[in-house]
Amino acid sequence: MNAPVDLDHASIAATTPLDRLDPSNPAIFRDDAWQPYFARLRREAPVHYTAESMFGPFWSVSTYKEIMQCELAHKVLSSDSLHGGITIRDRDKSLRLPMFIAMDPPQHDEQRKVVQPIVAPANLAKLEHMIRERAIRILEGLPRNETFNWVDRVSIELTVSMLATLFDFPQEERRKLSHWSDCATALPMPGGLIENEEQREAVFAEMLGAFTKLWNERVNADPRPDLISMLAHGEATRNMTPREFMGNLILLIVGGNDTTRNSISGGVLFLNENPAEYDKLRANPALIETMVPEIIRYQTPLAHMRRTATADFEVGGKTIRAGDKVIMWYISGNRDEAAIDQPDRFIIDRARPRGHLSFGFGIHRCVGNRLAELQLKILWEEILKRFPRIEVVGPAERTYSAFVHGITNLPVRIPG
Ligand code: HEM
Repeated sequence: MNAPVDLDHASIAATTPLDRLDPSNPAIFRDDAWQPYFARLRREAPVHYTAESMFGPFWSVSTYKEIMQCELAHKVLSSDSLHGGITIRDRDKSLRLPMFIAMDPPQHDEQRKVVQPIVAPANLAKLEHMIRERAIRILEGLPRNETFNWVDRVSIELTVSMLATLFDFPQEERRKLSHWSDCATALPMPGGLIENEEQREAVFAEMLGAFTKLWNERVNADPRPDLISMLAHGEATRNMTPREFMGNLILLIVGGNDTTRNSISGGVLFLNENPAEYDKLRANPALIETMVPEIIRYQTPLAHMRRTATADFEVGGKTIRAGDKVIMWYISGNRDEAAIDQPDRFIIDRARPRGHLSFGFGIHRCVGNRLAELQLKILWEEILKRFPRIEVVGPAERTYSAFVHGITNLPVRIPG
């Protein structure tokens, strides 16, 4: 079941002339009101042009099949930050941050290969034990019969301690990682976490300083299986400029942080909204296996990825011109009834639960997808061993963003 959509949003989505419909307004994600906008786009204009928005003109691709076509067209749909990068928001060219998610082949492929071993099956097997230990420690420390914010106490704690392990970053300073990640994705606004780009650059410089220290320690030591050592020794990364190092750090911090965090929070919320599914899970904890990818589909932690056309490109009967901005709305493709059975329902025992778009597709498909699933799987195994119920006791608050589809506050109570 979806949360009830605000009537205003529903009528705006239904009555705005199609050519003026703007699905990028961050308020529709904060208000959990995106569903009717995208349902209309899928029905009436799977490839749609918005001429005016706070992010300038852009194409929306909202159906599963057409998103796949765009993902596979990396020769004409570029991810390169020189063309605009991977999010709807254009950044000032002088603040360009090179990172391999925002590069095209061959440089993308070479740098991706350097960090890929972090998620090799043998390394995941090693991480499993550590993730379980952390999950147990976090869960055992939770209060009973008391309202607390699940996002802060569990989702953030587990993902940052995992991230600190991947970087071999001091555990006691792990909250710096979530702060840097939040600053990297925040929309600048008065009174916000980041008020302007200068502030953001200052935070990035602080992050670079901390990681440069670790790099310097590791570059002359033997290679080790942590991300900084891998980058310092990797042939395609060891001569990166400081700006490129900064970009790749942001990629790895944001990539491994917000996304998993929001899937952890989403799971608790969806089970509360769907009590019959929660009953099914309690009766058969083996369903965690298929529930985890369903949580990731249903949440869709990154609402979109952006590409920029470098040549004219045909999709869904429309011609995208060289230079145009193309937004692949995963959040919509994951609700496409032509590809997914009863897509608006949260069903924990689907036959093919991994066939979603949340991890993207093609050459940029998420490096960390198995690691994210592993964290969620272990967490739910340990939750079910301890708590018959986690009750959501107040409304979820959501991120004001058209990119990170997140939950900032989820009041819960564990009956004891
Ligand atoms: C790329 C989603 C967890 C690291 C991506 C992409 C998406 C995504 C949508 C871009 C795909 C495309 O353009 O086709 C997610 C979601 C996660 C998650 C939903 C959790 C539920 C992680 C974790 C890590 C990670 C845990 C690492 C520790 C990366 C990296 C890339 C990436 C490095 C760039 C890949 C490339 O450009 O080749 N992720 N991610 N992600 N993700 Fe994730």
